[in-house]
Amino acid sequence: MSNFRPPLDMPFALQNRHDEPLLRIVACSSAGDGNATPFEPPLPENPGKAPTANRAGLREVEYRLLAIAGRRLLVAEIPGHPQFTRRLADAAATADLALIRVDASQGLTSQTRLHTRIVAMMGVRQVILAVGWMERVAFDSQAFEAIVQQYREFAADLGFAGIQAIPFPGPSGVDWQQAEPSLSWYSGPSLPDYLESIEIPDSTVHPMRLPVQWVSRSEPGLPGLCGRLAAGSVRPGDAVRVLPSGLQTQIETLLVDGSERERADSGEAVTLTLADSVEVRRGDVLATAEAPPEVADQFEARLLWLGEQPMAPGRQYLLKLASQEVAATVTLIKYREDIDSGARLAAKTLQQNAIATVNLSTSAPVVFEPHRANRALGSFVLIDRLSQETVGTGTLDFALRRASNIHWQALDIDKRARAALMRQTPRCIWFTGLSGSGKSTIASLLEKRLHAEGRHTYVLDGDNVRHGLNRDLGFTEADRVENIRRVAEVAKLMTDAGLIVLVSFISPFISEREMARGLFAADEFVEVFVDTPLEECERRDVKGLYAKARRGELRNFTGIDSAYEPPRAPEVHLHPAENTPEACVESLLRLLD
Ligand code: ADX
Repeated sequence: MSNFRPPLDMPFALQNRHDEPLLRIVACSSAGDGNATPFEPPLPENPGKAPTANRAGLREVEYRLLAIAGRRLLVAEIPGHPQFTRRLADAAATADLALIRVDASQGLTSQTRLHTRIVAMMGVRQVILAVGWMERVAFDSQAFEAIVQQYREFAADLGFAGIQAIPFPGPSGVDWQQAEPSLSWYSGPSLPDYLESIEIPDSTVHPMRLPVQWVSRSEPGLPGLCGRLAAGSVRPGDAVRVLPSGLQTQIETLLVDGSERERADSGEAVTLTLADSVEVRRGDVLATAEAPPEVADQFEARLLWLGEQPMAPGRQYLLKLASQEVAATVTLIKYREDIDSGARLAAKTLQQNAIATVNLSTSAPVVFEPHRANRALGSFVLIDRLSQETVGTGTLDFALRRASNIHWQALDIDKRARAALMRQTPRCIWFTGLSGSGKSTIASLLEKRLHAEGRHTYVLDGDNVRHGLNRDLGFTEADRVENIRRVAEVAKLMTDAGLIVLVSFISPFISEREMARGLFAADEFVEVFVDTPLEECERRDVKGLYAKARRGELRNFTGIDSAYEPPRAPEVHLHPAENTPEACVESLLRLLD
């Protein structure tokens, strides 16, 4: 088991000290009382060993380094509000122990359950259930026992190795090293005693993993590979493999903090040079040669959704795992978990703070290990490509094998051969704009002109494709994402067939239009923004749909109660309100030539 992964904002002096193992704690409250945890105030200070504060906020999680009963603790304190879920997941990803605090007079809340599920998902195996404000229930032992019993039943299936419940007076215990007389019935360990008894798993027994953070070419000779050991230990002379390439070589030199070393362990920041000049890039993983991690591009994963906007299958996000970054898509939501009962529920989208089991597909192979084997190479975050915000965090369960069993058939007659026979350059001309903006009119006029010139064309029109291939899709955000994904794939096949394809879909979201663009070669995709103002589209209202939408008879209508995100840099920007369709087509033809 490897789970020592210091946070980025931890001082280097601490990361590279392993004389006393550090117990990593994520402390969260489910009462809406801000930051208080049993660790403050007052902090129990060992004489001469004042707790050091570390408030650098690179990852937005605040860590405090404490020394309690001879043990070094690194505590991440998470305030008890739903918007801090992300910090909780972040801190839980590397924690050994979770301290979950409840108010004795309130018992378990949905927040307690959500927090407990998140820490379990992120691989925390030890829990302290801190039952505070015991004075509010008159220090009643039965009230305490009832909460503990309820919690144990709730957490039974979550895979915890240990759950220790401890009663406290007040939010933090006045001085929890001193026995509270009214809690004399409690015969369990005190917090310091319990913390001291917890064993910290040895993260150096795992095969070595080094995600390469950057490749330094500043020194003459072979490049230095820099990163933090995610598991195991490393020595000069060790046989290693570079992944995903699989090339094998040996460690030549090992540097820690600028000086040569004979050994480095999990958690340490190192610089290595290799015996041979093999190609290594940022994002590659160096691993023990005889026990390398897996490489795959399709996974079953568990996902905690953090975005304010719901997660839509088919949409592309940026996935970060260790030092790797690839585009990723949720291809299927298998089920969502009911936070209270754990029941498996069907879901088409995921709302904020939902936990689900999904299939995930990445645009390039990812070096990984199942999360239960290695937390560092088994957990990832998803980032929205436009806002750059973290919208999800998750863990990889296993690789789906089907990816490696389906190969793209390389056929003898290829796109070039087909296009040559048609004497044309295949293209995807993608019209986007509001309903009634004139997309279809312009697309069909353009097709007529191209046809007259002897070009081979096809028009894919939203209204038509929705009668067949996409008849199962409506107008929710999730359905539109899938609508665009399918038509983009069809357009790609058609250009592969040699055709000039004209796609005329509202395609309201930038993400999906960018995804479509990504399927084509650089000059093959032409985005045409049919920019007719909403008022003009609504004034024309050819199909009477705007009127219906205004009367509330049609939901999620683009421009009315569903967003349209205009293109930022389309290849062609048309203004049909100021020009005739013929003039629009003329300017398009000039560009295509
Ligand atoms: S897209 O947003 O998913 O790209 P698409 O182009 O396939 O939309 O379909 C849009 C057409 O469906 C519109 O031109 C209109 O005729 C019809 N339509 C029916 N309901 C809606 C709606 N809620 N929003 C937009 N268009 C709708």
